[in-house]
Amino acid sequence: MPLRVIQGTLVHAQSANQPLQILENNVIGVDKNKIIFVEPVECLSELSAQHGFELDEVHNINGCFLMPGFVDTHIHAPQYVYTGTAMGLPLLEWLDKYTFPVEAKFDDLKFATDAYHKVVHRTLKNGTTTASYFATIHKEASLKLAEIAAKFGQRAFIGKVNMDSNSPDFYVETTENSIQDTEWFIKQVQSMNNPLVTPIVTPRFAVSCTLELMKKLAELAEKYNLPIQTHLDENEGEIALVKELFPQFSSYANVYRACGLLTNRTVLAHCIYLDDDEIETLRSHGCGVSHCACSNFSLKSGVLDLRKLMTRDVKVSLGTDVSGGYTPSMLGSIRQSVIASNVQECQQRNGYRSVDFKEMFYLATLGGSKVLGLQNKIGNFEVGKDFDAILVNPEAANSPFDVFHSTYSDTIEDVVQKFLYLGKFASLNFGEKQAKTYNWYSCDLTDTNGE
Ligand code: GUN
Ligand code: FE
Repeated sequence: MPLRVIQGTLVHAQSANQPLQILENNVIGVDKNKIIFVEPVECLSELSAQHGFELDEVHNINGCFLMPGFVDTHIHAPQYVYTGTAMGLPLLEWLDKYTFPVEAKFDDLKFATDAYHKVVHRTLKNGTTTASYFATIHKEASLKLAEIAAKFGQRAFIGKVNMDSNSPDFYVETTENSIQDTEWFIKQVQSMNNPLVTPIVTPRFAVSCTLELMKKLAELAEKYNLPIQTHLDENEGEIALVKELFPQFSSYANVYRACGLLTNRTVLAHCIYLDDDEIETLRSHGCGVSHCACSNFSLKSGVLDLRKLMTRDVKVSLGTDVSGGYTPSMLGSIRQSVIASNVQECQQRNGYRSVDFKEMFYLATLGGSKVLGLQNKIGNFEVGKDFDAILVNPEAANSPFDVFHSTYSDTIEDVVQKFLYLGKFASLNFGEKQAKTYNWYSCDLTDTNGE
């Protein structure tokens, strides 16, 4: 694969404190998937001599900008089949009434294959180049999800879900089967030998797992050096139940800690009701939080104080939590997270500063990569990382917003902000080879196709 050189505007986050850097008139060089240079266009002839490419091979993205692909740190792939419906019940009733009956259907590999094609396609179409998925308890269907993500070139953490208690008869495992199937699944995914897909150990939440299962899962994560994901402190009814089931522990986070599930590669979804000790526990163990604002509003779980976690140095990121959250779009997550943070500012006042769109852009890209332990691979355009990008054309036909270059003079930052608030991905250049080779998705913005 020849060296690829792209010229134009790059938009990315450098760090939490520099969440939106705009590099106009830059050139980025990509060799064997890796970024080998990012330099101002003035260096072009020097670079062409140094790296041996012709100037007429440079691809100019005129009028568009490149940004890192979105990282969705929490999404339930099987729940995509009922996204946009079945909202309004509190978490535990919602799980019983809607979620478990649907997830049980993934026993049928044909049904699972169809649904998983759709969710991978749909998330890619929305610019999610990396996702951390919960699948279901079924090992074959979970493996199918890994195969489909690999086929389409999406970077994915895939979790076979574990549940051995407080679950319906039609959707539960024995502790022994749960462990055996998980180990089988881990080995199968690892033997695919595809750098894009990684198994992730996935106890659903403390309610549906025995201590024995959670401890054994932590051992598996250690044995195979794997990340872990679960839910924590999402809903008041859930928290009360965890207290009742595990009275020997002083907090919900301590249940996971006692089992060895809190590591610097653990992703904890929601975390709305953390007390101060739990915040400190997450920080000191280096755990990451996936903030799922759309789900928190849709299931009326609560409003997370995201700023507080950021101030206390807990790693944070954004997730869609499909289908507790009704949109598979990370743009949707960004928007609802801005609103959630504004609600906090309205309620707290006293100089409270909400998390703004630039910081949300950071959380949806580089922040997500840090939570998944992929900060050396993806998340921004640093030399040495994989080239994992989406190309945004703000002036595509039927774009859902106007750009005012002359009459009102939008800056590039304004255009990026308009994209984050109003943009939609509608068409995707799905050259499979391109996707596999570059993890680069070319997206036009139009208002003709839904999310
Ligand atoms: N807690 C346990 N399972 C789930 C789930 O599927 N979705 C959400 N939002 N919370 C959970
Ligand atoms: Fe969830």
